[in-house]
Amino acid sequence: MEGVFMRNVQPTDYEPVIRVLNLWWDGRDMTDMLPRLFFAHFQGTSFVAEHQGKIVGFIIGFVSQTLQHDAYVHFVGVAPDFRRNGLGRLLYDQFFLTVTKLGCTVVRCVTSPVNRSSVAFHLRLGFSTEPKASSDGGLPIAKDYDGVGEDRVLFVKRLVGR
Ligand SMILES: CC(C)(COP(=O)(O)OP(=O)(O)OC[C@H]1O[C@@H](n2cnc3c(N)ncnc32)[C@H](O)[C@@H]1OP(=O)(O)O)[C@@H](O)C(=O)NCCC(=O)NCCS
Repeated sequence: MEGVFMRNVQPTDYEPVIRVLNLWWDGRDMTDMLPRLFFAHFQGTSFVAEHQGKIVGFIIGFVSQTLQHDAYVHFVGVAPDFRRNGLGRLLYDQFFLTVTKLGCTVVRCVTSPVNRSSVAFHLRLGFSTEPKASSDGGLPIAKDYDGVGEDRVLFVKRLVGR
């Protein structure tokens, strides 16, 4: 994307990202889910996209401490004015490239079933749901996955052959 530059996150990115987070997530209260520690301890695998000095996208992810070939994306967001222009895909591509170099072959993430855009986006990026389908053929939903009432759709993408 013209005029958009990507770089690794820095601790000072926490404030500008947190300021816009709930707005970018349609008014949902998301800030508690993205504490400052992600900007301090996951810099090598997390990126921001800047346009004219302003953050217009970010991806926060890491390599699993338990499964050495697995990577996980915790958050990805693009400013409303910059959406549907390939930036979310670019952020993910940067992440895929980085974790592939670190030996990962699998990327996982979860999203809320109410977030239909996120579900559509991840499917377009080649993620599959885990399991593939629910018993009624619909979107498989992990009930109470992140606490009571906190259902999630679980996604996986294999990087082999990239
Ligand atoms: C989800 C999000 C990151 C997508 O970013 P984006 O920059 O608009 O995505 P891209 O333009 O790179 O789109 C990549 C693909 O996904 C598709 N896509 C993106 N948003 C979509 C939507 N709302 N509905 C259907 N398809 C969508 C695009 O058409 C594109 O497909 P293609 O490359 O095959 O044409 C962005 O909408 C966002 O920040 N949403 C709010 C935060 C959020 O929900 N984050 C995800 C959960 S952590």
